[in-house]
Amino acid sequence: MTLSSIRKAPPCAFVLFGANGDLTHRLVFPALYNLAVQKLLPEGFAIIAVTRSEFGEREMRDHLRDGLKQFCKPPVDEKVANALLERVQTVVADASDPASFETLKKTLADADEKHDTHGNRIFYLAIPPKGFAPTVQALGKAGLTGENNGSYVRVIIEKPFGSDLASATKLNSELRAILKEDQIFRIDHYLGKETVQNILMLRFANGLFEPIWKREHIDHVQITVAESVTVGRRGAFYDETGALRDMVPNHLFQLLSLVAMEPPARLDAQSVRSEKARALDAIRQWTPEEALANSVRAQYVAGKIGDEQIADYRSEKDVAPNSTTETFVALRLAIDNWRWAGVPFYMRTGKALARRYTEVAIKFREAPISMFRGIDLDGLRSNYLVLQIAPDEGITLQFNAKTPGPNLAITRVAMDFKYSDFFDTPPATGYETLLFDCMIGDGMLYQRDDGVEAGWRAVEPFLRAWRQAGESGLALYRAGSTGPAEADALLARDHRRWRPTA
Ligand code: BG6
Repeated sequence: MTLSSIRKAPPCAFVLFGANGDLTHRLVFPALYNLAVQKLLPEGFAIIAVTRSEFGEREMRDHLRDGLKQFCKPPVDEKVANALLERVQTVVADASDPASFETLKKTLADADEKHDTHGNRIFYLAIPPKGFAPTVQALGKAGLTGENNGSYVRVIIEKPFGSDLASATKLNSELRAILKEDQIFRIDHYLGKETVQNILMLRFANGLFEPIWKREHIDHVQITVAESVTVGRRGAFYDETGALRDMVPNHLFQLLSLVAMEPPARLDAQSVRSEKARALDAIRQWTPEEALANSVRAQYVAGKIGDEQIADYRSEKDVAPNSTTETFVALRLAIDNWRWAGVPFYMRTGKALARRYTEVAIKFREAPISMFRGIDLDGLRSNYLVLQIAPDEGITLQFNAKTPGPNLAITRVAMDFKYSDFFDTPPATGYETLLFDCMIGDGMLYQRDDGVEAGWRAVEPFLRAWRQAGESGLALYRAGSTGPAEADALLARDHRRWRPTA
């Protein structure tokens, strides 16, 4: 996971299914370019751009180059870009047409010759999820999934991994019918974020925090992923999916599991992922009544974000006019293990909120006895360790200090660490570390089957209870606000408050 541990990626052919799509254009190819700039791509390297319909070699290169212009930090280094683009070959292949995979096989054999890629292959499926299993099956049929003579074959897919526990389990077993688990690399782009990776470092590279990282010292944890974007052009996908499925079992649970997991036996892919899955497994399965009482789902109505007038969610393009899909969710979770018994984990995420803001806030218990009677104690309640993830990346520790002067008064102060003050991070789309890790075979920052299933299992009670409740219980909030009042009430019930986000 650290690029600086200087592991060299072995040669490989990088096969991009969906090469003409948005994900390739915005993130994957720009990330390959950024790796090339940092000299982290292997010498023996080929890119096979796969599309379902004819796309000329030249047209493909222009399309990919355009992605670099739009999504990489200018100026684009033409020499590096050209060297990378020269390695691109296009192939038309469609899972429903087995013969097309023979062409792909032939192209890969040629790449081994021409670019010395040693039979190593990464298949990146930048395609809609319904294509994952058929594509892997077609690769299997074409004899492209076997690892022969010490070569490797890895397949990268990106969420959604199913839409509930049953569909995720089905997808996992379809993939595992062809591939070994360690050949499957499931991306959650939150694990590509430096601050998210840093949660591991913070907890396990410092002696300072571990002794207090438990129920005796922690009052509760708040995870907030607020977005100011609306559903935009993704109405059709989003209206089927909703905020819970879109964000919680994946991104928010990555944050939760890194905070809640037990120390792994080793900092390696198997140990870390086992502990993360175990943490998710310990999330209490609420009864339907409890699930309703411990959750808030809401949808945005017209409002203003900055100067922009936002329409009702229900009038967005490709959204059903009577949609009951939630665009905001807040949950209260309990983790039933010895470390976290009695420590609620609150989480909230939503679209069309006042501003983009992502953080994990750990609130420590109050001092056992107050020696400061008679003065305003509001500040005293706020020993927070805040892991800021967006828009600024950093860590803040909030505590109380004496306000200078003859009177006894307390002010909340903070120790602030900002990434930008300490590090010059190279330009990145957030996919660089993930792609590099796949090339070196390190799956620590990828999701394993049990973690995905544990995530779905933990949200099932909410999905089920909401399905039964239908429209009743769907709250509303104004676009540009900080969310529905019901989310505040969820914490107020426990005599707690969300940290301000706007
Ligand atoms: C995606 C979701 O996985 O993550 C989007 O599908 C969401 O709806 C996005 O906007 C958030 O990612 P980030 O990195 O902007 O927090």
